[in-house]
Amino acid sequence: MREAGRIVARVHQAFREAVRPGVSTWELDELASSIIHSHNAKSSFLGYRGYPANICTSINEELVHGIPDRARVLREGDIVSIDVGVFYRGFVGDSGWTYPVGAIEPAAERLLQVTEESLYAGIEATRAGNRVLDISAAVQGSVEPSGFHVVREYTGHGVGRAMHEGPQVLNYVSDDSDGRVGLRPGLVIAIEPMVQMGTWRTETLRDKWTVISEDHSLSAHFEHTVAVTNRGPEILTRL
Ligand code: MF3
Ligand code: CO
Repeated sequence: MREAGRIVARVHQAFREAVRPGVSTWELDELASSIIHSHNAKSSFLGYRGYPANICTSINEELVHGIPDRARVLREGDIVSIDVGVFYRGFVGDSGWTYPVGAIEPAAERLLQVTEESLYAGIEATRAGNRVLDISAAVQGSVEPSGFHVVREYTGHGVGRAMHEGPQVLNYVSDDSDGRVGLRPGLVIAIEPMVQMGTWRTETLRDKWTVISEDHSLSAHFEHTVAVTNRGPEILTRL
């Protein structure tokens, strides 16, 4: 899983340069595909429930699951959330990041900062002896003082041989999920706060994939695959 995670991290490393005004989300998909395949890995998204691309690219009010498209060209001031998952030797790595395209508005900057910080707050709570709900509480507690909104309809998850395994990892505290599940060394989860500026509510476009904020406010998503170890959390999708 470390190796799968490193491949995902290499793709994101390439995006730090490649995300700029004028590039299409299709070109980003091709870049990801070439890096993934050069490591003898494959996309864990392509074909998942019929998903038609290697990565997800979600611009501005789009939260997750945006489909790369030749006609979608990034413009200065946009934000783009890029989600990458691979299978490598039977295991999955999964990580998403929201990138600024050139210079962005201060409010957008703040949304990215708050969401990224909430991911790291969740990771900090990913310790043996804690429970899943400690992660959820850490993420929610980190976001809500900002006035931004934690999405409820999409969540983090266990990761392993499959992209989505138990436990479910909510980004807010609730009784009706796996919050009581204990974190033990060897458990690997994807922590993925999704945060919107104006509402937690979302809707899905007619392409049946693209999820947007209901009020069309800006949306951000940061995700790492994280292992519980005896020495604390280990982020697998980082170089
Ligand atoms: N990374 C996403 C997740 O964690 C999966 C992408 S959805 C797909 O749930 F359909 F594109 F695979
Ligand atoms: Co995920």
